[in-house]
Amino acid sequence: MESFANRYESKGKTFEPNAGHNNNTELLDHRSLGRNLGMMQQYKFFGSASFSQIQRSPLFSSLNSEDVSYFKEILGDKNVIEDEERLETANTDWMHKYKGSSKLMLLPKNTEEVSQILKYCDSRSLAVVPQGGNTGLVGGSVPVFDEVIINLSLMNKVLAFDEVSGILVCEAGCILENLATFLDTKGFIMPLDLGAKGSCHIGGNVSTNAGGLRLIRYGSLHGTVLGVEAVTANGNVLDMLGTLRKDNTGSEGSLGIVTKVSILTPPKLSSVNVAFIACNDYLSCQKILVEAKKNLGEILSAFEFLDNSSMDLVLNHLDGVRNPISSSDNFYILIETTGSDETHDREKLEAFLLKSLEKGLVSDGVIAQDINQASSFWRLREGITEALQKTGAFYKYDLSLPVEEIYNLVNDLRERLGDLANVMGYGHLGDGNLHLNISIAEYNEKVLGLIEPFVYEWTSKHRGSISAEHGLGVMKAEEIFYSKSPETVALMASIKKLLDPKGILNPYKVLPHSAFSP
Ligand code: FAD
Ligand code: MLT
Ligand code: ZN
Repeated sequence: MESFANRYESKGKTFEPNAGHNNNTELLDHRSLGRNLGMMQQYKFFGSASFSQIQRSPLFSSLNSEDVSYFKEILGDKNVIEDEERLETANTDWMHKYKGSSKLMLLPKNTEEVSQILKYCDSRSLAVVPQGGNTGLVGGSVPVFDEVIINLSLMNKVLAFDEVSGILVCEAGCILENLATFLDTKGFIMPLDLGAKGSCHIGGNVSTNAGGLRLIRYGSLHGTVLGVEAVTANGNVLDMLGTLRKDNTGSEGSLGIVTKVSILTPPKLSSVNVAFIACNDYLSCQKILVEAKKNLGEILSAFEFLDNSSMDLVLNHLDGVRNPISSSDNFYILIETTGSDETHDREKLEAFLLKSLEKGLVSDGVIAQDINQASSFWRLREGITEALQKTGAFYKYDLSLPVEEIYNLVNDLRERLGDLANVMGYGHLGDGNLHLNISIAEYNEKVLGLIEPFVYEWTSKHRGSISAEHGLGVMKAEEIFYSKSPETVALMASIKKLLDPKGILNPYKVLPHSAFSP
């Protein structure tokens, strides 16, 4: 095996970063009615089985030709989509697990149009789904039944950028990567980055309070989103687009439609280094994390991990990828540093890794010599989600756990499932966020019965969260009590009732039906 120490000797170059109309009782009625009448086959074995008990609420109206004519009047014919092919795409989630049957997608161009749409839908009791880039992983962005889809993709303008403060104000439909490209020209970066950056919208990011790959450095969006403009269910426009440092948001489209966002962006720093290292055991991964925080603290910008099963998955399903470590090991860690002094940053990373090698924490590793190599390292980690989609079927869990417990869950589940399925663990180790994924030839009730509620109970027992960064969506609405107290859920439901009395905004998502029962 070529040793890590030998391989990083040749110095590399600096590279760019990889790159509701009346009262609460009505809401209560249709939420509970909606959940108790029967079974939706489509969700049967995809995970979180208790959600299979949903039926369309009879309290919502059905779309008619007068509704369509009204929308055409306010939006123009071309932004009222009835075309089957486009609707098929918009009705289907990124994973192809959740599929609605909406007959209409609306493409508003500005806040006023969003307001007019919601005012009308609220008066007609037409349920809606706000949709951004449709990259969500919990079925939140697509209709459950025939909800009208309100897609924000035409609201994609940057409105203002302050080059002194780094404050960006933009419309909600801006694609994350486009914002990053724009900021790059100004010498700034987005404080969040995720594998879906080429499609997800900033409005979707804010509404899911997305975490991603830079949270360890720049924190949660709770800290960087300074303000939003949002439209509530009755069409009222709430202008909270302040540019003060502290004011927060987040609700998965169930409280309002985010139309504009102001966000604090960090400056782009000149020196970015990426190391890809192998470790034999999970305890070493934890120790490396502790050491990285101590020794690389001010320049550490990502600390991501994947296990050997995740690595095999990527190598088997994605083209043009290779493991930069010559001999395989049980765990891999991607460390990224971002700073302003290339020589200093590189020396620091090299010294850190050499020390880790000497201590036996690292079995082998390599530091990217240029931007292409760095991108290829990132591809191994960011490509896992895409590779999973190419397997027959997969169950996906997004969990927050104490770092020391993370891999115990993976091992326990592996033991439980034996040869029945392939269990993979990867995620944002630096944030204590495990992505637990189980791939299998086809969805299977028996296997699902072994996974759930085991995974949720395990997480709850260890005081973790069953929704670390992807949200609850349709998938986990009924599972919310595993990580939120009944009092918290009741409070969330009161807020929902206040802002959306008829419950038209993204029904069946986030909150359990019991939250709306007397
Ligand atoms: P959508 O999927 O369209 O919607 C998501 C939710 O937000 C829905 O409930 C929807 O109703 C609501 N919503 C969307 N836009 C608005 C709006 N303007 N106003 C109100 N509600 C709205 N997530 C992470 O947190 N971290 C990751 O690292 C990460 N990596 C990913 C990698 C891949 C390859 C993929 C496919 C997904 C990944 N995700 C990740 C999940 C997903 O990308 C995020 O949740 C993202 O923030 C969703 O943005 P979107 O615009 O696609 O929203
Ligand atoms: C990631 O970190 O890769 C994303 O959250 C997507 C996933 O969990 O697969
Ligand atoms: Zn993630």
